[in-house]
Amino acid sequence: MLPVKMCISASAASRIIFQCLRFYCQKPPKKLRICEAVSSSDMGTNVKVQGWVRSVRHQKQNLFLHVNDGSSLQSLQVVASSQLNHRLLTFGSAVEVSGLLVKSPSRRQEVELQANQIHVVGECNPVDFPFKVKERHDLEYIRQFPHLRCRTNTFSSLLRIRSEATTAIQLYFRDKGYVQVHTPVITSNDCEGAGELFQVEQEEDGGQPFFSVPAYLVVSGQLHLEVIAGAFPGVFSFGPTFRAENSQSRRHLAEFFMVEAEISFTQSLEDLMKVMEEMFRSTTEHLLAQCPEDVALFHKHVTPGHNVRTQSISTKYQHQNTMITYTEAIDILNRSSQKFAFETDWGCDLQTEHEKYLVKHCGNIPLFVTDYPYTLKPFYARDNLDKPLHTVAAVDLLVPGVGELCGGTLREERLDLLKTRLALAGLDETYRWYLDLRRFGSVPHGGFGMGFERYLQCVLGVDNIRDVIPFPRYSHSCLL
Ligand code: 4AD
Ligand code: MG
Repeated sequence: MLPVKMCISASAASRIIFQCLRFYCQKPPKKLRICEAVSSSDMGTNVKVQGWVRSVRHQKQNLFLHVNDGSSLQSLQVVASSQLNHRLLTFGSAVEVSGLLVKSPSRRQEVELQANQIHVVGECNPVDFPFKVKERHDLEYIRQFPHLRCRTNTFSSLLRIRSEATTAIQLYFRDKGYVQVHTPVITSNDCEGAGELFQVEQEEDGGQPFFSVPAYLVVSGQLHLEVIAGAFPGVFSFGPTFRAENSQSRRHLAEFFMVEAEISFTQSLEDLMKVMEEMFRSTTEHLLAQCPEDVALFHKHVTPGHNVRTQSISTKYQHQNTMITYTEAIDILNRSSQKFAFETDWGCDLQTEHEKYLVKHCGNIPLFVTDYPYTLKPFYARDNLDKPLHTVAAVDLLVPGVGELCGGTLREERLDLLKTRLALAGLDETYRWYLDLRRFGSVPHGGFGMGFERYLQCVLGVDNIRDVIPFPRYSHSCLL
């Protein structure tokens, strides 16, 4: 059989070779997050971005989109020929766009993406979608849609701020040499003794309770931190905390995040106040440095005029913190001409209205209130042995707009005093292990807890705590 002769011209051969080379050498577009794309460091590069459409505008020949992927407040402007338009390309739809990143002719943005391909990954009917293009919905409105509110600029900023504040708190403690402890969510103790416990109920097959003892969701990780502080100079935890408070208030949740620190070899409330102050300042400074646009969005559109307060907290705080005793606080309240709904006799708990008044009275800056009545604080608080007043070494940090942000105490390290107090409350058996901590190498120590959501409220000026947590839980509400 004769071999088949292939007849091919030299020019055709080179064309095929070039096509193959182009096919194999053409780099796939570089995948970028929107924050990277808008930073303009990849100008002139073929890129691909993925995100959600924040606006669509058609002109005769061109189509303009803004695409956001939550990586920054800024969206990326996409310009495309109107031939790439598609009926599914609507506000809220999810897209994948490829094209060339170029310098934008407009002053509104540095770069834009000249698209050669737009793929609608997920459609979104703009009529049914609860958020409308170019409308600024208020926090109360978007709160009705916990499953969708992360698609708004405001909540997306809040989530970035929350994430960055978490990092800042971890960094603060790490830099100071603290060890992070994962305290349990399920516990058998009521640390605060206030009875605001959610009970965990689960039975084994035989109908026996799963844990053999009553178990609850934790109200504070303090007692577990105290255990670990028996072998470390400083420990902290940062996790979910649960309180069955039947409250519809703007600063209470049934599930919130608490940062708690426990410091060994400390004998003064000043040591605790210093840590509260430094943690607050360094976290706030970190936020202002790392998410200036997100923080500015809150101060400009959500809580206009709040900017000043944040600045004053992060700077004045360093030098002019104010400190009064509980007894002085009661005196101030009793001398005030303001009528309070709750009484202000010595021995009464300070209510939000009292805390807010005290903060205002002292110049609208953070205020430490110390030495609370013995009967107001839990069994672990260190007795000041100052009868007839009888107070304990406790300190609360009150801040503008929120009231109590942090609560801390020196812990009762004296075995005899602790034993008597626990015995009087009928808790000496329950807390035998806690008494052991005082028996074996006990040291003076103390600590505090800060409500993370209240911190965010304070810095951003957000009035309702439900607007600073992704999925708020409170009485009669557990959506999703
Ligand atoms: O003052 P609290 O109850 O202190 C403790 O639990 C201590 N055992 C902490 C410690 O010393 N390790 O709570 C601490 C902070 C409060 O100041 C407040 O900011 C926040 O936790 N908090 C709440 N935040 C939101 N919703 C609630 N229901 C809260 N209850 C307390
Ligand atoms: Mg408290």
